[in-house]
Amino acid sequence: MKELLQYVYKRRSVRRYSEEKLTDEELAAVKDYLGRLKPLVPDIHVEFQIVPCSETNCKFNAEYCLLVYSEEGNLWLTNVGYMLEQWDLYLASLGIGVCWYGMGKVEEERQCDLVYAVMLSFGKCDPSAFRNGDYDFAREDASDFWSGMNDARLGEIARLAPSSVNSQPWRVEQIDNKFNVYRQKGKVPILSNQLFKRWNKVDIGIFMCFVDIALESEGYTFTRVLGKDSDEGKRVLIATYTVERDSD
Ligand SMILES: Cc1cc2nc3c(=O)[nH]c(=O)nc-3n(C[C@H](O)[C@H](O)[C@H](O)COP(=O)(O)O)c2cc1C
Repeated sequence: MKELLQYVYKRRSVRRYSEEKLTDEELAAVKDYLGRLKPLVPDIHVEFQIVPCSETNCKFNAEYCLLVYSEEGNLWLTNVGYMLEQWDLYLASLGIGVCWYGMGKVEEERQCDLVYAVMLSFGKCDPSAFRNGDYDFAREDASDFWSGMNDARLGEIARLAPSSVNSQPWRVEQIDNKFNVYRQKGKVPILSNQLFKRWNKVDIGIFMCFVDIALESEGYTFTRVLGKDSDEGKRVLIATYTVERDSD
């Protein structure tokens, strides 16, 4: 995933799209990449539908929306966040704008064994819609959410992860070469608890996508043990990483 690092500094939520349509080649590349996403939880079945944005409740003028359906299971929404953030970054590489759309609703919530998870709008946009570097990010400093960090580069990259209403519900506690990633209950009171719980589960998967990009691009190998998701408590242990630098 380290090839995605450069797009971490480019991507931004795109809410205004141009009239220009995706070419057939671009649409084919966008679809093809969906088949190449790396899962966080490999045995959860995920499927995608691309529909005209005008056929959804998405209020943006995007050409398309991606509808994500998934099997339910431990960390299924987190798995969706982890997978689709790769796609978000890949589309930035093609100059195609994307916005996660948590407010998305579908008529059919259930399709056989799969449940609707989330929607993302996408389409052509002005190049100025993207970022140009590591500035212009409204994010916490890594030291605010990552204790015991011994490689500042990891935090510098991970802190740039997008999240619903920019809630940044992640906490990391590190001791030597092991760290725990927690989902912390939201600090943003404007949304109903139910929606927020759901989105924060997606957010933490997006964050782990950024953590993995950071680890790989900084030359680490790692193992990761996933926790058991829960709606109880203020913070939930999502994963424990054990990392090793390739040159160690
Ligand atoms: C799970 C999720 C749901 C989101 N839902 C919406 C939404 O419904 N409407 C919207 O305008 N932005 C939505 N966003 C975009 C966030 O507001 C945005 O990612 C965050 O403010 C950080 O800004 P950036 O993506 O431009 O870096 C969502 C983001 C995530 C990760």
